[in-house]
Amino acid sequence: MAERALVLRTVGEMQALSDEWRCQGHRVGCVTTMGYLHEGHLSLVRRAGRDADRLVVTVFVNPTQFGPLEDFDRYPRDFEADRSRLEAIGVDAIFAPDVAEIYPEGFSTRVEVDGLTDRLCGASRPGHFGGVALVVTKLFNVVKPTFAVFGQKDAQQALVIRRLTKDLDFDVEILVSPSIRECDGLAKSSRNVYLTEVERRRSARLFHALQAGMSVFRRGEKRVDRVLEQVRADLSGSGEVEYAEAVDLETLRPVERIEEPTLLAVAVRFGGARLIDNLILRPPEAA
Ligand code: PAJ
Repeated sequence: MAERALVLRTVGEMQALSDEWRCQGHRVGCVTTMGYLHEGHLSLVRRAGRDADRLVVTVFVNPTQFGPLEDFDRYPRDFEADRSRLEAIGVDAIFAPDVAEIYPEGFSTRVEVDGLTDRLCGASRPGHFGGVALVVTKLFNVVKPTFAVFGQKDAQQALVIRRLTKDLDFDVEILVSPSIRECDGLAKSSRNVYLTEVERRRSARLFHALQAGMSVFRRGEKRVDRVLEQVRADLSGSGEVEYAEAVDLETLRPVERIEEPTLLAVAVRFGGARLIDNLILRPPEAA
């Protein structure tokens, strides 16, 4: 039988529980999510469970990271299913506040991380990473974790969070865990439910295109334009390509030659869904 997890709905309750744990000398691990949990999320939770004495998962669909025309209202939600998945893994607490608890009337603070947030997904989703930085700042102040785990699938988000915690001296260690995929390579995402059957079949192209780019690179090609040519050729006919880019893994600035670890990242729109994926190209001499 899975152990029941404590479900906390208020900031005060969560902070009190975390204070108690920290006072007892426990390492508190945290995974922040927007719920509708799949194996990708659960892999992060298991990863956190390996290093934590007490494990908290946050479930909160954060309105401030959605643009006015984005899918906040129809974002999938199923708290009871999330709770039983988390209890099966053995998390200690689920912090699941409502919007008014996190953003009460009069709320007026913003958290902006410059530079990293203008590129890739930030270019087409203005304000998105500001909303992510804001809510993660709040969630860290509420859960007070010793460490938190983020997914490589959202590579830019993980970098923004690293930058944020460093710049603002958060005493939280950030770990990044690999992308979990469906059998055909599509990275698992709560948004995959938006795909029609045809789109679902085509969506596997994202990973295949990244792999094709990786093969070109592994055969010795260091010129980014050649690698991207291959990626774009493989993506054609899949959906509407928003970007296919090779950028420096730390700064996210475009590179011309792959001499340092490089993030190969794509975003493709399929009707109502926008999918992202990435791989890291590591030159042997930089490994
Ligand atoms: P969400 O999309 O629910 O993702 C929560 C965490 O799960 C993120 O760290 C994300 O990178 C990770 N994740 C999602 N799909 C994954 C996959 N296929 N493999 C591995 N990890 C995966 O990202 C957010 O929520 C929000 O922006 C949040 C950080 C919670 C702030 O609101």
